[in-house]
Amino acid sequence: MSAINSVTDLTVEGDVAVITLNSPPVNALSANVREGLFEGFKAANADPAVKAIVLICEGRTFIAGADITEFGGASKGPSLTEVQDMMENAPKPVVAAIHGTALGGGLEIALVAHYRVAVPSARFGLPEVNLGLLPGAGGTQRLPRVAGVEKALEMMTSGRHAPAKEALEMGLVDELAEDGKLRETAMAFARKAVAENKPLVKVRDNNTKVEAARGKPEIFAAFRKANARKFRGFLAPEYNIRCIEAAVNLPFNEGLAVERKLFTELVTGSQSAAQRYTFFAERQAQKIPDVPDDTPLIPVKSVGIIGAGTMGGGIAMNFANAGIPVVIVELKEDALQRGLATIRKNYERTASRGGLTAEQVEQRCALITGALDMNALAPVDLVIEAVFERMDIKKDIFTKLDAICKPGAILATNTSGLNIDEIASVTKRPEAVIGLHFFSPANVMKLLEIVRADHTSKSVIATSMKLAKQIGKIAVLVGVCPGFVGNRILGARQREAQKLVLEGAMPWDIDRVLFDFGFPMGPFAMSDLAGLDIGWVKERSNGETIRDVLCEADRRGQKTGAGYYDYDENRNALPSPFTEKVIHDFIVKSGANPRTISDEEILERCLYPMINEGVKILEEGKAIRASDIDIVWQNGYGWPVYRGGPMWYGDQISPAKVLAKMKEFQATMGDQFKPAPLLEKMVAEGKKFSDL
Ligand code: 3HC
Repeated sequence: MSAINSVTDLTVEGDVAVITLNSPPVNALSANVREGLFEGFKAANADPAVKAIVLICEGRTFIAGADITEFGGASKGPSLTEVQDMMENAPKPVVAAIHGTALGGGLEIALVAHYRVAVPSARFGLPEVNLGLLPGAGGTQRLPRVAGVEKALEMMTSGRHAPAKEALEMGLVDELAEDGKLRETAMAFARKAVAENKPLVKVRDNNTKVEAARGKPEIFAAFRKANARKFRGFLAPEYNIRCIEAAVNLPFNEGLAVERKLFTELVTGSQSAAQRYTFFAERQAQKIPDVPDDTPLIPVKSVGIIGAGTMGGGIAMNFANAGIPVVIVELKEDALQRGLATIRKNYERTASRGGLTAEQVEQRCALITGALDMNALAPVDLVIEAVFERMDIKKDIFTKLDAICKPGAILATNTSGLNIDEIASVTKRPEAVIGLHFFSPANVMKLLEIVRADHTSKSVIATSMKLAKQIGKIAVLVGVCPGFVGNRILGARQREAQKLVLEGAMPWDIDRVLFDFGFPMGPFAMSDLAGLDIGWVKERSNGETIRDVLCEADRRGQKTGAGYYDYDENRNALPSPFTEKVIHDFIVKSGANPRTISDEEILERCLYPMINEGVKILEEGKAIRASDIDIVWQNGYGWPVYRGGPMWYGDQISPAKVLAKMKEFQATMGDQFKPAPLLEKMVAEGKKFSDL
């Protein structure tokens, strides 16, 4: 074996050369890896004793893509294209042997091999779109030539990883190897290619599938239309589509030129910067400075949930989906049965759309059982309480849990803002108590705020973080404070939205500005959807707020056909003259004069206080890092990914501008705009939010 460089080896076995990459963690295409590949193929190409070449990777995966940390820096060593040319133009068969994931640039490398062999667990994808990019090394031109236009559109705009079996069916893989036998299968394939004098297949030359879509612009029009809502605001999906159009309509090299131009535009733009930041921010959020990787974990083989309402049911589904049995405890039989029936209905709805088989529905439902007695929780490893947001009820439940649950069990509350230290104080094991704040609908929303109380043990934290990953959630560790991180920042925005209305902005103006910014909907449309009467008590309502008046008029949101908005028969929201009059009356009563408020002011008034609240949260140590706040807001509240999150956004507009505006608002509107001391300090020191 001879080392090409620190990450690449070349061995010749008989007449087959094997180039082995070993660049942990994911064999990303850093300068070193590109150099190793370039030199390795150059040597193997030139060696007359070598009749075929196998490329294989050590470690957990085949090449998982370009090295994302290198984007934006000066490029060193051979380019990816130079490596690809060396491989594709090899005068002997090149076989890529794939395990783990062949993603992005990794798949683009595999696509210039003449043949591909993979283990059944391997997965294939061009996930660049999730980084605000498109495949920049020929992937946009080669994937449609292999998989066809429809498949390429779907895979490249979703970033989905296709399993090996599907890859085999679409022609991306030539042969499946048995698990554990990748190397020998690829070697045998290479020898056979030599023996049978198989052609050196270049994907670039295969035009059959792209030609089939030529002259059919309707394919693209229909795809754009069907996905318009999903793609709204994002540049990358559209740019990926344009590259596939180029693959269909232009010769290969001209298609490549289109790809290069659009890639450059994206990689230097603000959206991709935010999306690449998000990639690393998500991974950072998993790291807890004082909870080391080797912290002992508590095995969680069964879960108990208290409360069979919407929240409890949704939480239960997460665990059943991961194969973990759940027992749900309710007070009354009818509530329990209703909860279980809702779960079944949800699964059946997924099945009717093709997301689950009938058998899977039964398997998952069988994992969720019900009980009316809390003693059923005695054997479980984790209990999650999901009942009303009332401290007295929660304390009562935790007192009982302390008596019932086995030693070592994790006792979690799904409270969205109550003081978990107070809840923990009624137990003799506060180290076992933690907040697991799921977002509604809990079986769908990605975010899990994991709330660390004063005495929560490191094992309980580490176990909760791991469990979150197991059930497909993005977890962020936060501290105890009213509303925790997400709802606390939401509160800052909601307050401003309500105040803006009393100054003369209409709910639909505010909603439009936030929708155009990229949120899925604005605060008032959101209230209408959730129901204006959440927390509203008819008996105590006295017309004191706009909401009171609307609820008293039975305008309680979409469910009653009217709220802040009127709704037509298709549930389209329409500005409401009724609401406008209610608002007007309120303003007149307060003695104020309604004024015209610019879109710019609406945006600044809604967003800057959120950033300021984020700084306060960091100041108080309730979030570990600024990027954690951004991950909460992206995954729990619909902050557009291409704008990074409130803290990232704050850095883009500049902390100094945020501070100056907050001071301006404070001078005219009062101390609710008082800048956080840390904001003043960081601006004075020239720091950014990302430094916090
Ligand atoms: N570049 C740099 N670092 C990367 C990386 C990449 N492409 N992919 C993963 N990493 C790093 C992660 O940041 C993480 O680092 P850390 O341990 O310091 O936090 C480490 O590798 C392990 O990653 P994960 O924690 O994500 O490990 P998993 O096993 O959960 O997932 C994976 C592995 C599926 C490969 C996942 O890491 C992934 O999706 N990676 C990105 C794949 C991708 O987007 N590829 C396209 C890149 S862009 C491109 O190729 C452009 C080209 O067209 C020119």
